[in-house]
Amino acid sequence: MKLTSPQIAKHKVSSGATPLVMVTAYDEPSARFVEQSGADLLLVGDSLANVVLGHEDTLHVTVRQMCHHIAAARQGAPNTHIVGDMPWMSYHTNPTDAVRAAAAIIRAGADSVKLEGGRIRAEAITAILSAEIPVMGHLGLTPQSVMKFGGFKVQGRDDKAAQELVLDAKAIADLGVFAIVVEGVPAELGTEITAAVPVPVIGIGAGPATDGQVLVFHDLLGLGNRKTAKFVRQYLNGGELMTEALKNFGNDVRNGHFPNSSEYYE
Ligand code: KIV
Repeated sequence: MKLTSPQIAKHKVSSGATPLVMVTAYDEPSARFVEQSGADLLLVGDSLANVVLGHEDTLHVTVRQMCHHIAAARQGAPNTHIVGDMPWMSYHTNPTDAVRAAAAIIRAGADSVKLEGGRIRAEAITAILSAEIPVMGHLGLTPQSVMKFGGFKVQGRDDKAAQELVLDAKAIADLGVFAIVVEGVPAELGTEITAAVPVPVIGIGAGPATDGQVLVFHDLLGLGNRKTAKFVRQYLNGGELMTEALKNFGNDVRNGHFPNSSEYYE
């Protein structure tokens, strides 16, 4: 059964719920595997830019590209709640642009949208919610802020920054987001934010006490070509397995072992 945003909004570990599992996916096969694994939510993240399109950061994807991949993911995961990421500059200009971009993402196949930022994005969040589109927040090491942060750096390390993040989380929860991704913050702050808001906090590098965890498909399965962050646990060396299989195919072709008599038509 596909979870709805109101159902997800009630999902707090402190109320006895099991932690939520969210995994990214970007096309039909990856989404199919995520759905078959039983994940609660599937995120078509703007990490599309990094792990699929080969960019250094997430600033290089557009609403159109996101929609293209959300539509493909929906084909593979018809029964999973899909969160569609709002790319950089799709909600920063004005509320009308933000609502139009969110609507395009929903029409492509998402059940909700995710956007980065706290109080600074209150107008965009309010406008999208007024259009009756569920919004997931994203705070902490928000990758779209890479230029402002001067790199991908853990956020909320000092008291003031930590308290600002708690205030941001409370503010967007008050506005009505149904869940919040908290990324790249000290575990103590992950715990504090989780306790401070009534909606689930889904952590990525935010420690063990959140209401769920999210990882990027390519990181989890070892398909990437970059060093992963400390918070990633790699469950498979998929890249090595795939290269090995491709090498075997190449060898079979070169040695005349492919195709054999069961692999062609008489
Ligand atoms: O784009 C993405 O994959 C994300 C996750 C890291 C939460 O936003």
